[in-house]
Amino acid sequence: MDNKKITRILFVCLGNICRSPAAEAMLQQMIIREGLETSIEVDSAGTYGGHAGERSDVRMRRAAEMRGIAMTHRARQVREEDFECFDRIIAMDDNNYEALFRLAPDRAAQQKIFRFREYLRHHPEWSYIPDPYYEGHEGFELVLDLLEDGCAQLLSELKR
Ligand code: 4NP
Repeated sequence: MDNKKITRILFVCLGNICRSPAAEAMLQQMIIREGLETSIEVDSAGTYGGHAGERSDVRMRRAAEMRGIAMTHRARQVREEDFECFDRIIAMDDNNYEALFRLAPDRAAQQKIFRFREYLRHHPEWSYIPDPYYEGHEGFELVLDLLEDGCAQLLSELKR
């Protein structure tokens, strides 16, 4: 019997169409590259449900595609049950963090919430992942740069 524990990661942003699905696709690609599919699972969700069911923002998908990352996620809203299913719930910014904190049913659930900035190693000037929705192309590139940095650190921490 395989008793190996699976670690489940949930990335959360506002709409679940830009930052968190990009983080999900990027970490998933790193997981596959390292052959860790049976020990780490990743998903994403939004604190706002207005885009539920939609594919990711085409600008985010195109920017990710340029880096060889395919985004196939359909948006969904985060729900209380996510605190049971996932081991770490990682917020892109402080608003997401606070919304998750309010949704968490108890203290054990609150302790599963992290900020993505905790995993940044090469971008000390950023304390959150900026919302690119109303930004130009550079906003999406910046998001991907920050996500590459943090996902690599997160994965090396999970492997330890
Ligand atoms: P995300 O970006 O939180 O990174 O998915 C946004 C997507 C949609 C909206 C805001 C941010 N919106 O206002 O609809």
